[in-house]
Amino acid sequence: MAGRLKDRVAIVVGAGSSGPGWGNGKCTAITFAREGAKVMCVDLKRAAAEETAGLIQKEGGEAMAFEADSSKNAGVKAMVDACLGKWRRIDVLDNNVGIGSTGGPVELGEEEWDRVFDVNVKSFFLTAKHVLPVMERQGKGAIVNVSSIASIRAPRGVTYIAYNASKGAVNALTMAIASQYASKGIRCNAILPGLMHTPLIDFLAEQYARDEKDHNQAYDKMIAIRNKASPTGKMGTGWDTANAALFLASDEAAYVNGHLLVVDGGITTRA
Ligand SMILES: NC(=O)c1ccc[n+]([C@@H]2O[C@H](COP(=O)([O-])OP(=O)(O)OC[C@H]3O[C@@H](n4cnc5c(N)ncnc54)[C@H](O)[C@@H]3O)[C@@H](O)[C@H]2O)c1
Repeated sequence: MAGRLKDRVAIVVGAGSSGPGWGNGKCTAITFAREGAKVMCVDLKRAAAEETAGLIQKEGGEAMAFEADSSKNAGVKAMVDACLGKWRRIDVLDNNVGIGSTGGPVELGEEEWDRVFDVNVKSFFLTAKHVLPVMERQGKGAIVNVSSIASIRAPRGVTYIAYNASKGAVNALTMAIASQYASKGIRCNAILPGLMHTPLIDFLAEQYARDEKDHNQAYDKMIAIRNKASPTGKMGTGWDTANAALFLASDEAAYVNGHLLVVDGGITTRA
């Protein structure tokens, strides 16, 4: 079933990845392009945006790379202007940026709390602010916000209160936009990925293993813990997130609005 986003223009914010391999945004940008969309690949890191756009172009798709900090109004406005300048419309907005910072209320500093909320929540507010008027003029559009199961569960073994709270805010933002814009032909949904094996996880596992005596063993241990925590015995991948994003962005989800789609192999079914 190819061509589900034929002739659509999509912006994927956070379309790069933290390292080599397949992150959620990178897989989503490529999946959208494979289904016919023209894709604007936006990232804080120019090289990461260019890498994803280059992969799409190599497959014969249409893509443009754009460097922007999505937590800043000027960057987001420039992104929307550039997209309209090139393709005249915006059909899909996929908000994929997200950062974490460990610590509970006592350990976490105020600046870190603000930084996580700026990237994880303000970004989604700003992109919606600039994209919604365009979608309203078109009478159609779909927004996909990448949240996390950390918005509905506090996972064992890791404390990151700002991440939990910021992703909870993403869910609330998603439902509020869905309700406000439903009558204008615009849908807004969220994906709640579980434990996904993305370059960000490799980076965190590397960091954790850095000071251990047997580096490789420590890295493998961290990855094995995450695999074991999943009921399927294996973490998900960026492609699982991308396939969910494709469904929510496409007309197949025409009557799906304000939904929080859990993509976690079943972890949240467990106590
Ligand atoms: N990997 C997981 O297990 C997992 C689980 C649940 C949710 N998520 C969510 O999925 C999303 C992507 O995760 P990933 O693992 O693919 O991460 P990733 O770090 O590999 O990719 C995110 C990309 O966003 C970019 N980015 C960060 N801040 C930005 C900003 N201010 N402006 C523009 N670009 C910015 C980064 O440069 C990076 O290329 C995040 O929202 C994350 O919270 C991931």
